[in-house]
Amino acid sequence: MTRRRGGAIADLLAAPRDPGGVEPLADGACVLRGFGVPEAADLLAAIADVVARAPLRHMITPGGFTMSVAMTNCGRAGWITDRRGYRYAATDPLSAQAWPPLPAVFDRLATRAAAAAGFAAFAADACLINRYEPGTRLTLHQDRNERDFAAPIVSVSLGLPATFLFGGLRRAARPRRIRLESGDIAVWGGPSRLVFHGIDPLADGEHPLTGRCRFNLTLRKAL
Ligand code: SIN
Ligand code: FE2
Repeated sequence: MTRRRGGAIADLLAAPRDPGGVEPLADGACVLRGFGVPEAADLLAAIADVVARAPLRHMITPGGFTMSVAMTNCGRAGWITDRRGYRYAATDPLSAQAWPPLPAVFDRLATRAAAAAGFAAFAADACLINRYEPGTRLTLHQDRNERDFAAPIVSVSLGLPATFLFGGLRRAARPRRIRLESGDIAVWGGPSRLVFHGIDPLADGEHPLTGRCRFNLTLRKAL
C-alpha cells in the first residue's frame, strides 16, 4: 500500500484513538483506549442491577449545592456527600441497607486495567457510579476520601463522549482536556494519585448503548 504525503502526521493524530493504545497523561497516569469496549454491555447490565437496588440520586455538597451528576455506589463502601461533608459510608443513606456488592465484571476489569497501566494487584472495594446527562458536569476535584493513596483510581467511560479535565497537584494548574469515549479507561495513581480532575459539561448526543447519557465508573480502594 502506498502512503500519501502527510500520512505520518495523520498516523500521529490517529494514534491516541487506536483501540488498545496506552496514552500517557503524566507519571502514573494514562488512558487505555477502548480497553473496556468488550465488557461495555455487561457493565451496563450490572449498572442496571445496582441502580435497581440503590437508585441514582443528586447528592448535596457540604456547601448546600445539588450536584448535577446523578450518583450511586456499589461495593463495601460508597462515596457520599451531604451537608455534613464528603465521606465513604458502608450503607446507602436512602435505604439504610448495605450498598449492592461490586459486580464481578467491575472487579475483574479494574484489576486488568490497573495492571495494564502499571499497577499490579489492584483490588477495588468501592465503585462510584456517575450518570451525566447533557449539560451536567463535574468541577475540578481530587479523589481524597480514600483511606490511603497507595492504590490508583480506575475510571471507566460508557456511552456519550466527554471532555476529561486532567490537571495537576494544585487546583490552579491549567488542566489538559482529553476526550474520553465509551470503553476508554483512565487510570491515575502513584505520583498522579491526587491530581485535580473533572468533566466539562456533557455535549448532547445519542449513544447506541446508553441513549442520551454517559456513565462513569470510578473504582477505588477506599478502605
Ligand atoms: C470522577 O472524577 O468521579 C469521574 C470522572 C469521570 O466521569 O470521568
Ligand atoms: Fe474524581
